[in-house]
Amino acid sequence: MGDQGLQLEELAKEWTPTEETILKRRSVRIYKKEQVPEFMVKRILEAGRFAPSAGNCQPWKFIVLRDPEVIKGVTDTTVGFCKLAKSLVDYRVPGKGWRLPLAKLSIKLKPGDMHPTPFGAVSYIADGKLGLWHDSPTVILVFKDVRGISNPDLDCGIAAQNMVLAAHSMGLGTCLVGFVKLAFQYTSKWKKYFGISYPYKFATSLSVGWPVGNPDGLVKRTTHPVDWYEDGTSKTIY
Ligand SMILES: Cc1cc2nc3c(=O)[nH]c(=O)nc-3n(C[C@H](O)[C@H](O)[C@H](O)COP(=O)(O)O)c2cc1C
Repeated sequence: MGDQGLQLEELAKEWTPTEETILKRRSVRIYKKEQVPEFMVKRILEAGRFAPSAGNCQPWKFIVLRDPEVIKGVTDTTVGFCKLAKSLVDYRVPGKGWRLPLAKLSIKLKPGDMHPTPFGAVSYIADGKLGLWHDSPTVILVFKDVRGISNPDLDCGIAAQNMVLAAHSMGLGTCLVGFVKLAFQYTSKWKKYFGISYPYKFATSLSVGWPVGNPDGLVKRTTHPVDWYEDGTSKTIY
């Protein structure tokens, strides 16, 4: 792991259990079929509810999915949109030049979605090479209340991360899953099913389940420089 690894090993001696959970948490993409006990999911939701939010608005609504047919239904809708996106705007396929103008327009309108990383994943999901919620037995959908002051997306992200960390501290695995927004953005089917209307909009979701093996652990991370101002001078730390 190089220098960063050595530094982490040194720091690890001082870690609190909270730091250990934060640093060792990894996204889990293979789950056991066994369901997560209800009381554990309730504790995870509680961790979400206790997240800080601007003005204490708590601009979120959580929905728990544990019916395999419903999870599959939302998955199928999302996969359908991934297939459509792949067939219309996959600008990377050689010999499909006619897609370029549409791809360029999409890049202008949705630059984040068309970035090669998520777009590559859209293609994998369309081809069934990457699962949506990775067959987790429990899914938590997070909807934002758009009336929340300041930035409800940020509040929902913090609540979701609280839930993720609570789950990992209990030995469970999670993966934040953003692609499912396709099932809520471009069709009203699932909004109707879950009774979602103004002021709620999809924010994010997480898969929750018992991990196969133990994927949690330290990995090498890119260290972005941090500028530090103190005593009238500045330094950069890594
Ligand atoms: C907002 C957000 C959306 C994400 N969406 C997905 C997703 O749709 N599918 C997936 O497999 N992983 C998704 N991830 C997980 C990231 O790929 C993962 O956090 C990242 O690669 C770092 O790996 P780690 O979580 O194991 O540290 C998402 C993460 C975040 C924060």
